Amino acid sequence: MIIRVLGSAAGGGFPQWNCNCTNCAAVRRGEQGFQARTQSSIAISTDQKNWLLLNASPEITAQIAQHPPLQPSQGLRDSGIKAVMLMDSQIDHTTGLLSLRESQQPLPLYCTGMVRQDLSTGFPLFDLLNHYCGIDWQELLLDGQPLAIPQVPGIEIMPVAISGKAPPYSPHRNDPHPGDNLGITVRSTVSGKSLFYAPGLGNMDEAVRKVMSEVDCLLVDGTFWTEDEMTRAGVGTKPAAEMGHLPQSGPDGMINRLRDLSARKILIHINNTNPILNELSDQRRQLQDETIEVAYDGMLIDLVG
Ligand code: MLT
Ligand code: MN
Ligand code: ZN
Repeated sequence: MIIRVLGSAAGGGFPQWNCNCTNCAAVRRGEQGFQARTQSSIAISTDQKNWLLLNASPEITAQIAQHPPLQPSQGLRDSGIKAVMLMDSQIDHTTGLLSLRESQQPLPLYCTGMVRQDLSTGFPLFDLLNHYCGIDWQELLLDGQPLAIPQVPGIEIMPVAISGKAPPYSPHRNDPHPGDNLGITVRSTVSGKSLFYAPGLGNMDEAVRKVMSEVDCLLVDGTFWTEDEMTRAGVGTKPAAEMGHLPQSGPDGMINRLRDLSARKILIHINNTNPILNELSDQRRQLQDETIEVAYDGMLIDLVG
C-alpha cells in the first residue's frame, strides 16, 4: 500500500496568500530550511493505478499535476482518482471537489451523514455538483465494520469518530455530533499493513487510542506547536482546542501522547505559524529526538516492507 502526501499544510497553505508571519515571510524569501506546502490531502493505492483520495484540497489540480499516477492514462477522459473520502466538511478538505466537476460519471464520494448534511446546507456542494458530474454518495457508517472500496482494490477502511466541531459555516457548529470529524484506518488486504489518518485530532478517547496503538503508521494532526500559537503570532484569536487541534508541545500535547505508541509517526496538516516548518528549529529537533516525522508535499509512505 502506497500513501502519497499530496498536500501537508493546514487551511491557508504555506505560505498563506495574505500572511507575513515569520514562517510565511521566510519561505517566500526562499530561506534555507523552509519548504512550501499545499493544503492537506493524501492519496492511497495498492496498484498505483486506482487511488482513493482522502480529502479534496483547494489545490487539487496542482497536486494532480505533481503526481502523474493520478493523471489520465487510459481513455480520452480518465483519472487515477477512483473515489474520494472526506474526514470532515472543512473548507480546506472539500473545496477541491469543485475542481473535479468535469468527471465523466457521478463522483464516488464517501462521507458521513453529518458531513453530507453540512455539504447540503451551509456549503451546498452536493446540490451544486448535481449540475455538473453529480455525486454518487456512499455513506460512511460508524458501525465498527471494515468497508471495502470497490473502486480501489486491496484496501479496507474503518472510520472512527473524533471529538470536535463542525466548521464555522455549519448550521450545527455549536452542536457537535459523532461523524462531524473522522479518523480513518486504511488497511491493505494484501500485506495487512495499516495507516491511521486524522488531520484534525483535538482529543483522543479510549477508542481512538486503541486504534492508534494497533496500526503500523500514524499520519496525524500537526497543526500547532502551542495552544495559543495564533494569538502569539498575532494572526488570530482562536486557541487550538477551539479549532479541534491538539498542539504538539505541553504536558498533554501530541508528543507526549505519541511517545508510547510503536507505529511510525508522521505529522500532517501543519499550520503556517508552526515553528516545526523551520527544519533548523529547536522544535523540529525535538520531534527528531522523538522519531516523529513531518509530512511534506510529495512524500511517499510505502507500507509494503
Ligand atoms: C482547520 O483545520 O481548523 C481549518 O483548516 C481552518 C480553515 O480552513 O479555515
Ligand atoms: Mn484544516
Ligand atoms: Zn503565516
